Amino acid sequence: MAKEKIIITDVGPRDGLQNQAKILTPGERIQLINALVAAKLPAVEIGSFVSPKAVPAMAGTDEVAAAVLSGNAYFSALIANQKGYDAAKAAGVRAVNLPIAASNIMNEKNVRMPTDQLVATTCEIIAQGKADGIDAIPYVATAWECPFEGIIAEKTVIDIAAKFFAAGAKTVVLADTIGAANPAMVKSLVSKMIAEFGVANIACHFHDTRGFGVADAFAAAELGIRKFDASIGGLGGCPFAPGATGNVATEDLYVLFSQMGFDTGIDVAKLLDAVQLAKELTGNCDGGGSYKWLKRQQEKAAA
Ligand code: COA
Ligand code: ZN
Repeated sequence: MAKEKIIITDVGPRDGLQNQAKILTPGERIQLINALVAAKLPAVEIGSFVSPKAVPAMAGTDEVAAAVLSGNAYFSALIANQKGYDAAKAAGVRAVNLPIAASNIMNEKNVRMPTDQLVATTCEIIAQGKADGIDAIPYVATAWECPFEGIIAEKTVIDIAAKFFAAGAKTVVLADTIGAANPAMVKSLVSKMIAEFGVANIACHFHDTRGFGVADAFAAAELGIRKFDASIGGLGGCPFAPGATGNVATEDLYVLFSQMGFDTGIDVAKLLDAVQLAKELTGNCDGGGSYKWLKRQQEKAAA
């Protein structure tokens, strides 16, 4: 019987790099993306089209897009407003990711818009995406806890998601921007989201701040979620969300899901090469919790 698929989107080239002390050149970012494509990641977030003053590390994403868009992977880029949408469209990306925090203060800090206005802008962009053949994928960020407003009511998240689905979104991603959720919190919100909107339309994005990234992904997978974000080597963090550390590592979700019998499509030897490259390029990447074990398996197999 064919194995069930899990789709991992590697957000390392965006979420992983946007807050690094060392800013990579577009050429280095292209190298990292090409390493992920070589590892057969089915989807990669290649950068963001936002103000280079706000996020200097993501300047030049148009150059990156021009160099990498010939691969087979599904490439997306983060945007925060109409200007970003126009730039992403001009660069030829297939999908745009839109972060909308469940809390007002976070939205003001991140994109200088209150939640209502940002939700309205996002709904307009979803409609434009439909006309342009670009998938507009809203992320409900700080979906469990906000660094400024604390624990988020589940109803707030569900109400925001409902607006995006009503506007025509195919998928809504629940993002634990600061890595504050635990598996019980994940189970509670994700099960309610599934009951409202259907399991196939929800994806999850976890950070490993408290070491719960893998446990949170497991909790969501047990409920039937099959689409996850992760970042190569566990790179990551949001410049506007204090306390946010790296995303759950791609190699950790690879180990979790492949050992549970799912098909991730990932080439593990090439994935380890991509972790090595992330280490070399950033000088600030330990690899996920499973990295050393994976390396040992590779060395044993080669001996
Ligand atoms: N791409 C490039 N530049 C952009 C832009 C975009 N999408 N949107 C706005 N800008 C530029 C404007 O041209 C302007 O430049 P100028 O100062 O040279 O005239 C400057 O950014 C400010 O524009 P303004 O419309 O006044 O925006 P703002 O100051 O209210 O900032 C954002 C709003 C969205 C541009 C800014 O907060 C941002 O880019 N945030 C990034 C969010 C992010 O990536 N967070 C991390 C991931 S969740
Ligand atoms: Zn994130």
